[in-house]
Amino acid sequence: MSNPSLLILAGDGIGPEVMDQVKRVIDWFGEKRDMAFDVSEDLVGGAAYDKHGVPLHDDTMAKAQEVDAVLLGAVGGPAYDDLDFSVKPERGLLRLRKEMDLFANLRPAQCFDALADFSSLKKDIVAGLDIMIVRELTSGVYFGEPRGIHVENNERVGVNTQRYTESEIARAARAAFDLARKRGNKVCSMEKANVMESGILWRDVVNEIHQAEYSDVELSHMYADNGAMQLVRAPKQFDVILTDNLFGDILSDCAAMLTGSLGMLPSASLGAPMANGRPKAMYEPVHGSAPDISGQGKANPIACILSFAMALRYSFDQGAEATRLESAIEKVLADGARTGDLMGPDGGTPMSTTQMGDVILSALDASL
Ligand code: IPM
Ligand code: MG
Repeated sequence: MSNPSLLILAGDGIGPEVMDQVKRVIDWFGEKRDMAFDVSEDLVGGAAYDKHGVPLHDDTMAKAQEVDAVLLGAVGGPAYDDLDFSVKPERGLLRLRKEMDLFANLRPAQCFDALADFSSLKKDIVAGLDIMIVRELTSGVYFGEPRGIHVENNERVGVNTQRYTESEIARAARAAFDLARKRGNKVCSMEKANVMESGILWRDVVNEIHQAEYSDVELSHMYADNGAMQLVRAPKQFDVILTDNLFGDILSDCAAMLTGSLGMLPSASLGAPMANGRPKAMYEPVHGSAPDISGQGKANPIACILSFAMALRYSFDQGAEATRLESAIEKVLADGARTGDLMGPDGGTPMSTTQMGDVILSALDASL
């Protein structure tokens, strides 16, 4: 049997720097755990635009469809701010999500004990926090038609459309319920059923799926604005949060910050099973391209490495090895390893991206 295949799209800004550390981790699993991957690399975002004039080349899209999993770094940067909307770096990322049909975006927000002091909230509110946001990723206002800017009565009008079909809601809901069963067995679904028809349908369909297939899981509903408030008031009340594309974008940034640093959070975007039984999948850190620190060796590689841990768990059925990697990261943080984004108020000398990679590899060695 051939090795499982990975396509690395490091992208822009700090993407390539943090991905370099992930490659070392991938090599470690090949050498020490006998888990070799066939790794190929290609361009996405501004890097692809510079070479091809588009943020994702058709050949790259085709490769992404064939591999077992895509690992993505980050896209975007100030050099591309003035580009036409259709070729902006973000369009490359959105094309991957849409054409691979990655409808379930898993965004865990977990607070590492060693970092509980870094949260903008009080320590006791976030210590031990472990929630999972399931964000619908291929529909809603991100993709709904009609969209555009046109002129009406001598002024410009901007239009986007929030649109959800029952089946789109149902498959996202199933992903959330399935995950909840493996965790705290609770789902809170968030929409704006008080003002949006799409929200009314969302709530109905989630209730129907719950009743028919998942009545063993505890289900609640919240308006998304209240959800945002509850996330900063008492985040530990949640286990799995199910929500749409736009609310999920916003709520997941909010949840991320509870954990102390955006540099810590991974994500998985999953679609339907492929012929080999593995889900279509792309893994990426939640942080962006961070142009202000890119190229300086300062970036925290942990979110990107934790994204590879999610790949081990969700694409390759290697939950124990994923836990090994997550524990190694927990260990180095407990030992005081800190990149610049993790410096407390007392300061200290931050380590470089590569040094963080070094200590994680040592902790992996020590785990054997
Ligand atoms: C995210 C990002 C993207 C989004 C951008 C880069 C298009 O904010 O993954 O959360 O809005 O989905
Ligand atoms: Mg976002």
